[in-house]
Order: sequence, then C-alpha cells, then structure tokens
Amino acid sequence: MTSGSIVAQITDYANRADPYPLYAELRKTPVRREDDGTYVVSTYYEVRSLANDPRLSNDTSNRPAGHGRPGQPAAESGLPPSFIFTDPPVHDRLRDTINRPFGPPHSPRFLDGLRGELAKVVTELLDAFEGKDQVDIVEDFAYPLPVTAICKVLGVPREDEPLFHSWADALASSVDPHSGDDGGPEKAQQARQELGAYLTDLIETKRRHPGPGILSALAPDMKPADLEATAVLLLVAGHETTVNAITNTTLTLLRHPDILERFQKDPELAVPIIEEVLRYEPPVQFVPWITALADIDVAGTTIPKGSPVWLMLAAANRDPRRFTDPDRFDPDRKDNEHLGFYTGIHYCFGAPLARIELHLAVPELFRRVKFSRLLEDPPPYRANAVLRGPRHLPVAIEGVTP
Ligand code: HEM
Repeated sequence: MTSGSIVAQITDYANRADPYPLYAELRKTPVRREDDGTYVVSTYYEVRSLANDPRLSNDTSNRPAGHGRPGQPAAESGLPPSFIFTDPPVHDRLRDTINRPFGPPHSPRFLDGLRGELAKVVTELLDAFEGKDQVDIVEDFAYPLPVTAICKVLGVPREDEPLFHSWADALASSVDPHSGDDGGPEKAQQARQELGAYLTDLIETKRRHPGPGILSALAPDMKPADLEATAVLLLVAGHETTVNAITNTTLTLLRHPDILERFQKDPELAVPIIEEVLRYEPPVQFVPWITALADIDVAGTTIPKGSPVWLMLAAANRDPRRFTDPDRFDPDRKDNEHLGFYTGIHYCFGAPLARIELHLAVPELFRRVKFSRLLEDPPPYRANAVLRGPRHLPVAIEGVTP
C-alpha cells in the first residue's frame, strides 16, 4: 500500500468521519491491486461472492510474510486460533459446539432469557440522565450495555464486569491493521495477559462449580485453551461493534429529524431503521485478514494464490448496482440485504444478540429522552478504521421521561 493510495486514505484518521467518497472512488475498480500485493474488493456482488468462496481463507497462518495478522496475535497470543480465524472443517466443528448452549436448535431460549437483565441495564442508564442537560451517548449509554451482555453470555460474575470494560477496549484497538500507530499492540498485549489469567481461573471454577452462561456448559467438552480463545473472541467481536451500532443509530437518527419524528410515533420502525443503519454506517467497515488459497478470477481480474484480500463491506453496502440511491438513509428501502453482519460461513455469530441489544436500547432511548441537538457534528471518531465509530457523541437533551 502506498501512502497516497485510496486504501491508505481510507485508513488515514483524517478521513474517519466520512470515508464514503473514498469508497465510491474505490468501487470504480471493483478488484484493485495495491502496490504491496493486497487485493481490495469493494463492489457488492464481488464481495458477496468472495465471502462465500471456499478458496478464501480466514486462517491467518496462510498470510504471506510481511502482511500482519490484524486482530489475532495481540488478542489471542499464546492461544489456539478462535473460530473466526479458522477454515472448515475446524471452523464448522468449533462454531457448532459453541453454538449449542448459545442458540437454536439446542438452546433456542438462551438469548431470550437475557432480555430482562439487559432491559434493566438500559433503564438504569437512562434513569441516570435525569437532571442533566447534556450527555455522551457513547460513555453514558452505548458503551456499558454490550460488555454486560457478553459477561452474561459467558457467565462472568457481576462484580467482575468492570474489569472487562478496559480489557475489551484495549483488545478492540488491535483489530485495526494500523493500530501500531497509537501503541495499540502493547496495550492489547497487557490486556490479553490479564484477561487470560482471569479466564483460566474462571474456566476452572466453572468446571468445578457450573453456573449460568456458556462457559459452564462448554467446559466439559472443550479444552481450556480453546474455551479461553472463544471467550476472548466473543469479547472482541461483540463489544465495540455493538457500541458503534447503538451510537451510529443515534447519530444517524439525529441527523434525520424527519425519520426520527416518524419513529417516535411508530416504534415498529425500529426494525427497518436498525437494519438500514447496519447498511449505511456498518460497525465493521472491512475484513482485512483473508488470504486467497488459489488463483481466483473475479470481475476480470485474477487474484493470485497467496494474496492478502480485503473485503470492503462498507463500500459494498453503498454499491449503486445493488442499492438504489445508496447514499440516502432510507429505512423504507425494500430487500435490504446488507453485508453489515457479513455473509457465508463466517456470518456474525452474535447477530441475534446484537439485534436484541439494539432493539432494547434504541426504541427506549428515543421514547424516554427528549433530544435537543448534536453538540458536535461530525463527532470525534476512534482511531480504528475497521471497527469504525464515534469515540464520543455529545448531545444536548431537554429531559428524560420515566
Ligand atoms: C452490531 C454489532 C455487530 C456487527 C456489525 C458484527 C459484524 C460482524 C462481521 C462483519 C463478522 C465477519 C467477520 C469475519 O468473518 O472476518 C462477524 C463475525 C463474528 N461476530 Fe459479529 N458483529 C456484531 C456483534 C457481535 C456480537 C454481539 C458478538 C458476540 C456474541 C459477535 C460475535 C462474532 C463472532 C464470534 C464472529 C465470527 C464468526 C465466524 O467466524 O464464524 N458479533 N461479526
């Protein structure tokens, strides 16, 4: 990648608030070879077809020398790869095992059972807005919910949840291919060690004294190291993504007062609004850890075997060949088959949980809070280009109803 290339500009922090014109530029060459040999794919049908192509690998040990393994080494050092970084048949076996206590067909009611506790968290967070005339939607609302949700899924005791907040933060920064720029890897490494020591103890405790959560259910069948890698994966994959989804939804609605007004009259609009935000402002902007296992012909270009491949979900989600008027936020659009949760065998494992969290948080936020205005637009963004989202979202409010 050269410093002036479009991809370098997309990862450049200066363009974090609005990378979409750059994605439009990128789509002019659907499969683009960067100077370092990386192939960047940005159009909807090509991204979708490659995400479903068994000749592409998520196993980062296939990456050529000199091409980092973003996300994996810092978050999971010393552990076997978690299932996001594996290919079939290992991927399918691990994902199936871990899904047993988490979702259908074996545990269709597990996530539903968390609704009550998560709704309580939402209520408490909004009660704390009382008497304030401004709040930060990230710190005061979006941030605390997803960590609590992952802790409940894993079965982490409530008093230990604050520890997970700082670990999740440090680990998320390591998902960025350029996180070395702000000391991300060192912070992530330390968080990884602390989290690892904590999880080793917790898994041993769960093995002897099973309790609620998936760690207890999985402990008899999985090796401790695999279980630890799974817990780290769920924390990294499920935290900042969901924080960004809640924040992006709030920001987008406040920028579209006409749609907000309709939503306040008709809470049923939550479903198409949330799905449209996942298309329009996807929390995972691109997937940068894939490798071609064979020569692959796509859109008139051959991606040679061994090449690193980046799939640009945020660019594909605004491809005019797939979505009419793609730069318009339009919850009424039909057939919104966005790639916000990806597609294929690595389709987001936590999508049902993320949707529960979003559907608890967003309608309640807009039902109870009387918003006055955004205090900074665009808001300040986090450094991360992959898990892109505002670091803070300060808003003026006029009050909160019970
Ligand atoms: C709105 C919030 C979320 C978004 C936008 C999102 C998006 C994504 C995307 C794009 C992928 C594909 C990445 C790849 O294959 O390289 C993915 C995979 C994954 N996500 Fe999510 N995610 C969200 C929330 C969650 C939550 C809450 C959890 C945890 C419970 C989670 C767990 C996972 C896991 C484990 C994978 C790997 C799946 C596999 O490789 O089979 N995600 N997610």
